[in-house]
Amino acid sequence: MSLSDSFLYAGKRVLVVGGASGMGAATAELVKDAGADVVVMDVAESKLDGATFIKLNLAEKDSIDAALAELGDGKLDALFSCAGVADGTPGIERINFVGHRYLIDRLVEKGALGQGSAIGAISSAAGLGWEPNLESLRPLLEISDYDEGAKWLVDSGKADYFNTKQALCAYVATQAYPLMKKGIRINAICPGPTDTPLAQANKEMWLGFGADYREEVGIEASTPLEQAYPLVFLCSAAAGAISGITLVSDGGYFAAGRTDAYPPAADIAKFLLGLLS
Ligand SMILES: NC(=O)c1ccc[n+]([C@@H]2O[C@H](COP(=O)([O-])OP(=O)(O)OC[C@H]3O[C@@H](n4cnc5c(N)ncnc54)[C@H](O)[C@@H]3O)[C@@H](O)[C@H]2O)c1
Repeated sequence: MSLSDSFLYAGKRVLVVGGASGMGAATAELVKDAGADVVVMDVAESKLDGATFIKLNLAEKDSIDAALAELGDGKLDALFSCAGVADGTPGIERINFVGHRYLIDRLVEKGALGQGSAIGAISSAAGLGWEPNLESLRPLLEISDYDEGAKWLVDSGKADYFNTKQALCAYVATQAYPLMKKGIRINAICPGPTDTPLAQANKEMWLGFGADYREEVGIEASTPLEQAYPLVFLCSAAAGAISGITLVSDGGYFAAGRTDAYPPAADIAKFLLGLLS
């Protein structure tokens, strides 16, 4: 296999959940360009030419079951779990975490994801520093039922953006072993501010985050395509040895804060690492 073949998706079948907009749309476009047969699932309609579109609402278990039935029995080489919403959206606990996990479980159960396949999720900078929270999230990680998982997040006061992204990172790390036993890899990216419709709708908070650092180092908020590249890499053959990682794609903001190299980011890094009392 050549270097470029290892990064390409020729002959592969790929499902992009949340592929109608933003980073998911960039991912769907990129893998299609790399040769994949692409299926997009989303609550909003995808405009990607040549891709199959299946309507899906992650906030409703029946909708996920119906989308899976429409997908049929063929195998998938890669699943990209990209859909997500901001605080204030009803059902955030189901959309950002429980629905993705339910969909993954069903795809593994029916053998659509099997030997040689890969899962790439989009977490967030909000998911960084999940390690000190692993034990408090463990009960959720051990619940496999959709409704019970959603109820646990609501009852624990964790049905919010921060906790669903922390849970997603912890899930990726804890699933590396059981999934690898089935030949499946799982990874996520943790993007910093990225200029998408979702970020524009929460502009002050999402694109304001780390704006001082970006000005200081001379970079912009990233583009959806810049986030799609590492995600597409993680599910490619080129990343065959990588599983269980939550890759930070934030232009160095978190690293600059945790090392005090850029002191204004130190408190947020310490908060995420559980080091602020
Ligand atoms: N934009 C940022 O700055 C940023 C930073 C870190 C992480 N993220 C994460 O990146 C991911 C992609 O977000 P984006 O910024 O590209 O936003 P986006 O709104 O452009 O894309 C999100 C997609 O999820 C879909 N979606 C929303 N609710 C859904 C539901 N109930 N069922 C199925 N699909 C649903 C939307 O229709 C949309 O196509 C999200 O998980 C988000 O939390 C975004």
